[in-house]
Amino acid sequence: MKREQWNSRVGFILAAVGSAIGLGNIWRFPYMAYENGGGAFFVPYLFAMVTAGIPFMIMEFSLGHKLKKTAPRIFNQLGANLGLRLEWLGWFQVFIAAIIAVYYVAIIGWTLSFLGFSFSQSWGDDPNAFFFEQYLQLGNNSPTNLGQFQWGIAAAMSLAWAITTMAVFTGVKGGIERASKIMMPMLFIMVLVLITRVLLLPGALSGLNYLFEPDFSRLLDIQVWSAAYGQIFFTLSVGFAIMLAYSSYLPTKADINNNAFMTVLINCGFSILAGILIFGVLGYMAEQQMKPLTEVVSSGIGLAFVTIPTAINLMPLPQLLGPLFFVALVIAGLSSHISIIEAVISAIIDKFHLPRKTAAIIVCAVGYLVSMAFATSGGLLLLDLVDYFINNIALLLSCLVELLIITWMLKVNLVRRHANHCSEFHVGRWLEICLQIVSPAILATILAKNLYNTLLHGYGDYPIADQLLLGWGLVAAMLLFALLIDFASKRSPHRELWQSQP
Ligand code: PHE
Ligand code: NA
Repeated sequence: MKREQWNSRVGFILAAVGSAIGLGNIWRFPYMAYENGGGAFFVPYLFAMVTAGIPFMIMEFSLGHKLKKTAPRIFNQLGANLGLRLEWLGWFQVFIAAIIAVYYVAIIGWTLSFLGFSFSQSWGDDPNAFFFEQYLQLGNNSPTNLGQFQWGIAAAMSLAWAITTMAVFTGVKGGIERASKIMMPMLFIMVLVLITRVLLLPGALSGLNYLFEPDFSRLLDIQVWSAAYGQIFFTLSVGFAIMLAYSSYLPTKADINNNAFMTVLINCGFSILAGILIFGVLGYMAEQQMKPLTEVVSSGIGLAFVTIPTAINLMPLPQLLGPLFFVALVIAGLSSHISIIEAVISAIIDKFHLPRKTAAIIVCAVGYLVSMAFATSGGLLLLDLVDYFINNIALLLSCLVELLIITWMLKVNLVRRHANHCSEFHVGRWLEICLQIVSPAILATILAKNLYNTLLHGYGDYPIADQLLLGWGLVAAMLLFALLIDFASKRSPHRELWQSQP
């Protein structure tokens, strides 16, 4: 079977950007910046982008492009050359992607529902009660006591799955690339239209002051640096099989450095635009309600499903601006979801030599069924708990191990050699310093801190049993299964990977 390929350079970049730009850019980034020093957050954020984001992206694009395989077989091959078994790391990353896929789609489902509600602002005068009580029906549930199945949420999630399935079923060129080429330009145009309208509203500019006003004293706080690094890995979708899969479909002639810089810069630029949009809205809202901005802002999920609906109620032309905002969220979410599912499918195709369509149907069907656990009253709690352990522990662990293997056990300059060989402009020694020293040191610090805090205090107010099962237990099970598959697999023969010219 000949490996599928992207049709064009632009197609690849739009697909990679589609994966990177997601719900996280729109509701996670603005809030993180605000929480962690406002304008001063840009210092650690940009530092993390340069020392971790760009190098990691160049590394993953190089590996995928050079080896033309997905995570498990890439690590199998790298391991073979070291005389080690490393395929498990690839499966661990694929499992991370699979778990994210089943809960991320729930949020896309909520977004689709709210897109429907936004035409007539059916959330009424109390969006907080509407979201938590009426829509989610969050009662006395817990992550293991999920309460009632919510047919409305399930229906919306089904729609999201239908779109994702169609894209991955059709394939790299005709499905994923075509979808990205339609979705991404739409997303940019919609966000620019929204920004233009919002910044003309009274109070919007004072909202921006809140976002950008630097509190440099926060730069001494390690928490701020840790938040910036965590955000960079999540926002760029690096470290869990996605970018490896996408770059394995690159044609032999491809410009690695240029593609990596473009992907990272477009993603981070988009985050800043989203920050301007959200804080413009908040500034307007604060002025309308005659409250200080600190009282109208809410964190995480509440920002998208409570604060924004409240703001839309106060806006001119709500029937227009509301749908525009939620369509943008839906598109950002779907293009990321497609990439997460593709990471899983491509690993299965590579491993079992299944035809794409068969693999796509199996993965989407299983994913669909599992994701229905989130279409329940307690779905939000389950999501919150699982997301915490995946993002703060599993993902960081996977990134750290990947970096250590490639830069300490293999030769780090091989990555740079390959990338530069394929690229119009060359990156210097800084790439190696970042990959070998700066990023691992920072990642290890953050991971150690997260492990310590979580072991000591747990996460949130969830029952300990739930945290053991769905947090620690889940991560341990993922590792265990990954190791089991590894043991059952044949090791590739040793191959000189980087000697020959690409
Ligand atoms: N990068 C996406 C974002 O910022 C998140 C994402 C998570 C994408 C998981 C793919 C997989 O929202
Ligand atoms: Na992102």
